[in-house]
Amino acid sequence: MTEAVLLVGGKGTRLRPLTLNTPKPMVPAAGVPFIAHQLARARAAGVRHVVLATSYLAEVFEPYFGDGSAHGLRLTYVTEKEPLGTGGAIRSAADALTTGPGGPVLVFNGDILTGLDIRGLLRRHERAQADVTLHLTRVADPRAFGLVPTDADGRVLAFTEKPRRPEEIVTDQINAGAYVFRRDVIDTIPTGRPVSVERETFPGLLSSGALLHGVVDASYWLDLGRPASFVQASADLVRGVVRSPAVPGEPGEHLLLPGARVEPGAVLTGGTVVGAGAYVAAGAEVDGSVVLDGARIEAGARIRASMIGQGARVGPRTALDGVVIGDHAEVGADNELCDGARIWCGTAIPDAAIRFSAA
Ligand code: GTP
Repeated sequence: MTEAVLLVGGKGTRLRPLTLNTPKPMVPAAGVPFIAHQLARARAAGVRHVVLATSYLAEVFEPYFGDGSAHGLRLTYVTEKEPLGTGGAIRSAADALTTGPGGPVLVFNGDILTGLDIRGLLRRHERAQADVTLHLTRVADPRAFGLVPTDADGRVLAFTEKPRRPEEIVTDQINAGAYVFRRDVIDTIPTGRPVSVERETFPGLLSSGALLHGVVDASYWLDLGRPASFVQASADLVRGVVRSPAVPGEPGEHLLLPGARVEPGAVLTGGTVVGAGAYVAAGAEVDGSVVLDGARIEAGARIRASMIGQGARVGPRTALDGVVIGDHAEVGADNELCDGARIWCGTAIPDAAIRFSAA
């Protein structure tokens, strides 16, 4: 039986204010909490037991996912009292695993959307007889990521986290946030203190002569850490650019959840999702956006690439582009916001108060 650890305990600071009440892995993408897609993909690849390594807002996961049987999985929850970082979380979650010392354990960051062939990653791990196998992806600008150069056989040569100097940028291959650990390698991670797998465990294993194997995979890959990439991921799931068995509908230009009300004359495009009990008035245009449960989009509003929080209201003729509106915030009529603006939960913006348009 293949087992996996899903890391879901981070604070998700870059996605605030949506992560003030909801942990990032539970923020809905294409109508369901984001990790529902990861769990469904893991299930489809033959994983049967997943340990959720929780910390921040740990209490919200189990009421939604329960014992996992509705998702065809056995789920176990392990909670760190204090966040132990990615490595510490893997170490403490491993106590709930049944895989024997030499067996493979999958580990996934809880904020990556990818079309990775998980079975293929396991096969490559076995073939390489590696201590740890890492999914790598190529990006145009690797500066915000962990660089992982490999030799011609895939053997990892170095780890450089978020390189600052140009001479450090020796590859466009980055750590894509999915790993296969040999079970007994996890047991070497120290307990009882925070450990970063990227900054401490992997470099330490490398310098002690362990075999770390990198698998470069060209399938869809997106890190959902920032609002712009979160809305992009949701839109891509809705449109079927990347497939997930957990999307509650067929691929299309928009997805309406049960109880969503969209007036005739409203235009929904680009993989927009409208949540349960949300309302979109006539003449509103919503493109490539996430409208969460109970939100209201009034007549003539124009919204692009934005996240509208639960119960939030966007007033008539207001234009939003690349914006996050927190839960229960109200933006009055005739406002213009763009380029990463964030409205905190519960805030009220009066009519025609903000005109902030990109040059
Ligand atoms: P930011 O605060 O916006 O950087 O987001 P984050 O808190 O999610 O951090 P990051 O993106 O670096 O985390 C990568 C993955 O590891 C995410 O799935 C996090 O939920 C998870 N993670 C990060 N730190 C911890 C931790 O201390 N404990 C556990 N259990 N998971 C963690």
